[in-house]
Amino acid sequence: MTADGMEITTSVVGASSGSRELAPDTCLVVLFGITGDLAKRKLVPAFYNLARDRKLPEGLHIIGVGREEIPAEDVIAMHRKTTEKFSRSQPIEDEVWNDLARRIDYVGGDFNEDSLYAALYQKVLTLESSGVTRNNQLYYLSVPAQLFPNILTKLRRSRLMPAVAASRLPAWTRVMVEKPFGHDLDSATELNRLMAGFLDEKQIYRLDHYLGKETVQNILVFRFGNSIFEPIWNRNFVDHVQITAAENIGIEGRGNFYERTGALRDIVQNHLLQVMSLCAMEPPISFRAEDVRDEKTQVLRAIRPMSPAQVRQNVVRGQYAGYTSEKDVAPDSTQPTYVALKLEIDNWRWKGVPFYLRAGKSLSRRLTEIRVQFQAVPLSLFDFDQSHCHLLRPNVLTIRIQPDEGLVQQFMCKVPGEELTAAAVTMDFSYDRAFGKSVPEAYERLLLDAMRGDATLFARRDAVERSWELCMPILDAWASDPEIPLHSYAPSSAGPAADDELLAREGRCWEPLKP
Ligand code: BG6
Repeated sequence: MTADGMEITTSVVGASSGSRELAPDTCLVVLFGITGDLAKRKLVPAFYNLARDRKLPEGLHIIGVGREEIPAEDVIAMHRKTTEKFSRSQPIEDEVWNDLARRIDYVGGDFNEDSLYAALYQKVLTLESSGVTRNNQLYYLSVPAQLFPNILTKLRRSRLMPAVAASRLPAWTRVMVEKPFGHDLDSATELNRLMAGFLDEKQIYRLDHYLGKETVQNILVFRFGNSIFEPIWNRNFVDHVQITAAENIGIEGRGNFYERTGALRDIVQNHLLQVMSLCAMEPPISFRAEDVRDEKTQVLRAIRPMSPAQVRQNVVRGQYAGYTSEKDVAPDSTQPTYVALKLEIDNWRWKGVPFYLRAGKSLSRRLTEIRVQFQAVPLSLFDFDQSHCHLLRPNVLTIRIQPDEGLVQQFMCKVPGEELTAAAVTMDFSYDRAFGKSVPEAYERLLLDAMRGDATLFARRDAVERSWELCMPILDAWASDPEIPLHSYAPSSAGPAADDELLAREGRCWEPLKP
């Protein structure tokens, strides 16, 4: 029974699998940054859960690379502890962990020193001569983007990474890189240019973990696997779309990172624009990587970049009170921890439908969702009594990305009784309840896809550059116009009140961020 009194049953009536169900190739994963935060919180727990679900290829081995010169056993012991803390499945099963641990080796040293790569080369050679990894190599760069060029150059010089032309087919070499991909348009373009000197675009897997989330992938199935929604998914029926990525945590000691980043670069440039493009794209001719990525990129290309005046009008930035007292944050920092903006897509399907995006830290709750609000009904039928009219709320479809992954459809219904009174009710689909199992972590999916050679859920070069093109007018305006306000908001609140105005002047309002 839902809060609105509706009971719905969800049964899985059929399942078909696409190419991503293919078995991942066996390979060697060389993980730069294995002692870092991401590896502790996400990557090693993801490998553990894949091992637990028997999804790892038989011959998979991992060589971690980190700055600390410590024995491999210490790295493994550290990861055992952090996996106990961060794994989605609990408790850790000894047998599974021990099987994973025996596949992990470690090389420590300075990423700028040739000696590190010489030591790595020896380990790779030994492993490859045993034949277990079939000479397939997946390099995962979980390090700041400014280190990519040096690491790639040294991998090439030390003969670890073959030149594009000399690619050792049928074995493959792929590189996964973490976001943020560049700091602005120039640095992202330069990074892409540089990587293209080492690798073919097909070898590069630019990771945006939002794309690995089950609920984000479900946007495609939901939109294109149901004939009832696609006909109304356009400007004739949709009033506006709200995409929210609210976090209740602050910057969690990552002052150094956040001072260079801020909410627009951290969340909007990548995660939210990717989600928006899945939401607004045309049906691809197939679910093959290039077909899906072509359509997503078309959306980004159709978004109008803002003029400086539009930035002042359509973007609100905020900073939570206390941010400037955080560790490694400048006392006079103007880095926004919150941003809300309005974007418009200049194409046949979406012309005139605003997409409102908001992302922020230290808010009242953790919530990531897409809210598609349909147009209001013509009131003429119901305006016999003004007291009833205000009850008629437009239909809203909410795609809940996290937490409580699922879908909620809100619609109007007659309240039983003699009077003609309407009430909004909801139909609520929950992944947990429908499928009875927890949703896998995004990194599990993305690691497997990279091993399968499926780039559908990774960002392509042109899309990354286009996303930066869309963000640059905002970043430039903030940098050059000190008059643009930076609104303060209380921690654990709904964000700066100023962002209400963004919608209110068009007669709309945000879905409240209820705690
Ligand atoms: C990361 C950002 O990309 O996404 C973090 O750098 C943010 O600042 C995180 O906290 C949010 O991810 P998720 O999966 O918890 O929504």
